[in-house]
Amino acid sequence: MYTVALQPTPALTWVSVGGILDLYVFLGPDPQSVVRQYLQVVGYPMMPPYWSLGFHLCRWGYHTSNETRSVVQRMHMHNFPLDVQWNDLDYADKRRVFTFDPQRFGDLPDMVEEFHQRGMKYILILDPGISSTSPKGTYLPYEDGQRRGVFIRNATGHTLIGKVWPGRTAFPDFTNPETILWWRDCIQSFHSTVKLDGLWIDMNEPANFVQGSVDGCPDSDLEAPPYTPKGVIGGQLNVGTLCMSAQQNLSTHYNLHNLYGLTEASATYRALLEVRGRRPFVLSRSSFPGIGRFSGVWTGDVRSDWEQLRYSVPAVLQLGLSGMALAGADVCGFGGDTTEELCVRWMQLGAFYPFMRNHNDRPNAPQEPYVFGQRAQAAMRRALNQRYSLLPFLYTLFHHAHTSADTVARPLFLEFPNDPNCQTIDRQFLWGPSLLISPVLEPGVVELAAYLPAGTWYSLEDVSIDTSLSNHLGQYLLLPAPLDTINVHVREGHVIPQQEPALTTNASRSNPFLLTVALSPRGWASGDLFWDDGDSMDTFHTGEYCYVLFIAAQVGKTSSLMQNGGLSRLVLGGLRVFGVPSRPVSVWANGLRVLDFTYRTDTKVSRGPGRI
Ligand code: GLC
Repeated sequence: MYTVALQPTPALTWVSVGGILDLYVFLGPDPQSVVRQYLQVVGYPMMPPYWSLGFHLCRWGYHTSNETRSVVQRMHMHNFPLDVQWNDLDYADKRRVFTFDPQRFGDLPDMVEEFHQRGMKYILILDPGISSTSPKGTYLPYEDGQRRGVFIRNATGHTLIGKVWPGRTAFPDFTNPETILWWRDCIQSFHSTVKLDGLWIDMNEPANFVQGSVDGCPDSDLEAPPYTPKGVIGGQLNVGTLCMSAQQNLSTHYNLHNLYGLTEASATYRALLEVRGRRPFVLSRSSFPGIGRFSGVWTGDVRSDWEQLRYSVPAVLQLGLSGMALAGADVCGFGGDTTEELCVRWMQLGAFYPFMRNHNDRPNAPQEPYVFGQRAQAAMRRALNQRYSLLPFLYTLFHHAHTSADTVARPLFLEFPNDPNCQTIDRQFLWGPSLLISPVLEPGVVELAAYLPAGTWYSLEDVSIDTSLSNHLGQYLLLPAPLDTINVHVREGHVIPQQEPALTTNASRSNPFLLTVALSPRGWASGDLFWDDGDSMDTFHTGEYCYVLFIAAQVGKTSSLMQNGGLSRLVLGGLRVFGVPSRPVSVWANGLRVLDFTYRTDTKVSRGPGRI
């Protein structure tokens, strides 16, 4: 913990409370190189399972398995794509992790099986606090944990007890190798009954509802160092968390506090890999450099208001710059009642968070897409379908993040470091180098001043916008943004692989591919597709993937299969080309003449068979 002050000299002054500091300076020189150099130190982002890029739905307050089932049924009945259904603490018996309530969630294993039958996945919450008050012989995670010495100890060597959702709890010490094995055993035993597909690790700062422990903390410099930054209540570092003098296997909690979430994420990733044998999915609230290797991150409890919608953009971009590529905020907001307009705009923006989950707090009005009016529903459905149609592209971006430390959701300055206008833009962002997203972030807005950097940008909705005349700089344009629209533009010179959307990625993955080709003024474009089974570990290393390079040039469009890992059923169903100067005389594919193609003289778009 430290304070950073900016001096006019220019200089930076850092004042730290103390502790262990590792300082690295990354010289770049350009922003993308700084990110790469940083990720070479902390680790590249993990490759997420394909399904985890679909839509996730959660709330605190799906009280029973039947209520949870009905949410899924209504989503699909109303034609909303949904890949992953979640449960919050409601599922657990007296809020104790690794149990499920025998009355309200007695048939949880069957419910999960039904979701799997639909081609969906299931995730539930897992807090680190292990209830310490169950009658003897009734709660194995605590008893086994005590026997194996896995919990953090207080300064006198006894298990430190705090309070979290289930009441009194002990806290696993994930720096202890035995804890990692115990955690795996707990997950394995729970998974033998409930076939969950991923884990949501919350409260892992670690959060504590009492200060330090139920017995307080010793009077020491570790708890209240001589210097603490403004805002640290009473100068005590243990407010809302554990005693700093608590003992962990590696060191004091003072030295390890910030690493708690990271060590838990690593243990959870490892456990899921062992137990499921597939690519793990973990979502963590606490983060630390390097956590992107194991976990996605969400921005915690945001309020359902416009300000939090707006600031979620820089929040998600910052996480991405720090190697946490799979990031998002609670769509429609977590705290307080959302409104229809806010929720529509949030679903539209959320469709372009790398990780998209709608999540709501217990007392609030519902915010599942189907609870809103027809117009709002149509707008949300459109946003979800847009996301699903772009998933092959998003997945390919994750592949590049995983293998080359690229960013997925990208601030404009990273892609256009020489454009001074881009330096401060944090209301728009890019997916990779080529898709510009300009969301509406205020109420009542139906027109949007969006910055389009130099070059030609084509609206995904077919209207070409040419900003190429303005001398290496871009320009602000007023774009129409009615309630059903989020502005998305494709950059000249790029090919975007897409696929027909469906209600789950399980279904959409077998649909034909579609290519959107945005020609540069010289008639050139390129792009790529990384494709594998979406769920196995290390496919890049084992070679079980396809990698296709697309090149569009004056002579036509070619695809080169650079790697064919035995996945031979990739079918191209449609192609649309932006920026074709005049009506093509004829169109040929694989040596055959294509008759059903169209050309529009106003937008210079030509398309072949298939729907986009
Ligand atoms: C925390 C989480 C929130 C969750 C709640 C109950 O506040 O941030 O997402 O719903 O705990 O588990």
